[in-house]
Amino acid sequence: METYSAPAKIILFGEHAVVYGEPAIAAPFKALQAQVTAMPAPPGSGLSIISAASGLTLHVSLDDGTPDDALVYAAQLVLKALDKPPPDLTLALRSSIPIGGGFGSSAAVSTALMRALSAALGAPLSGEALNSLVYEAERLHHGTPSGVDNTVIVYEQPVYFVRGTPPETFRIGAPLTFLVADSGVSASTRETVSDVRQLYMRDQARYGAIIGEIGDVVRTARALIESGGAPRELGALMNANHDLLRALSVSSAHLDRLCAAARDSGAYGAKLSGGGRGGSLIALVEPDLAPSIAAALRSAGAAQTWLMQLT
Ligand code: MEV
Repeated sequence: METYSAPAKIILFGEHAVVYGEPAIAAPFKALQAQVTAMPAPPGSGLSIISAASGLTLHVSLDDGTPDDALVYAAQLVLKALDKPPPDLTLALRSSIPIGGGFGSSAAVSTALMRALSAALGAPLSGEALNSLVYEAERLHHGTPSGVDNTVIVYEQPVYFVRGTPPETFRIGAPLTFLVADSGVSASTRETVSDVRQLYMRDQARYGAIIGEIGDVVRTARALIESGGAPRELGALMNANHDLLRALSVSSAHLDRLCAAARDSGAYGAKLSGGGRGGSLIALVEPDLAPSIAAALRSAGAAQTWLMQLT
């Protein structure tokens, strides 16, 4: 019996604009993990996936067409890529990553599952091959994903990501401390990405300009992070990024309130992270203020908070 895992992710800067070719900065968030344990099954029983969250057992065969279930689809993608029939195997999935929480749950679950299945088939997928299969699985969830979630989750490193180009790593000039919060509201990235697309199609000049401004924020943020620059300036960029996301209609009154609570209690800056309208947010903090800012976030309605160091 072997267990394979994959971390959650956090987008520091650039979500949504990244779908349109602007850069994004994202990091793995290892406090939350998806895990898949591969267990041999009796001969003839085939491949099944047991999900702890739903309690359901799913059977994987190769002749279902494109299934509705993303777990089954992820398993099929591996079997097809490796040209193997379903083995006699049970894959048990558990995950601490909130679904619809902006943490890349779907990409993390697919990554852990594909790692477990390919290893059980004697052909462990790594790097590029895994990343492109997870991207394929993401398309079932998100329609037109940029690829940032699967990239940061598969490579487990902070990345500067531009759609369609190889991910770049970058230097972190001085350690940064973030508070990550789950807003407690689950939201669909597919929906927010599609709403931004509609706005963009309706008024390309206006929304294209906002998207371009987000790109400028991300480029400036990368330079600041690399130079170990002042956290106050980086915080101001996070606030600016949040305002631009509001202008793209992907914030919510609740997320705005939570960001304000973080700033009012001493955070350098705060912004939503991921698809928006719910999900997660991130605040840049001074480490000794983290407990009081976390308490302020929780009394403003955050479901949970975590500390994340970028070093
Ligand atoms: C979701 O984590 C990030 C978005 O930019 C969508 C994507 O990049 O595919 C909102």
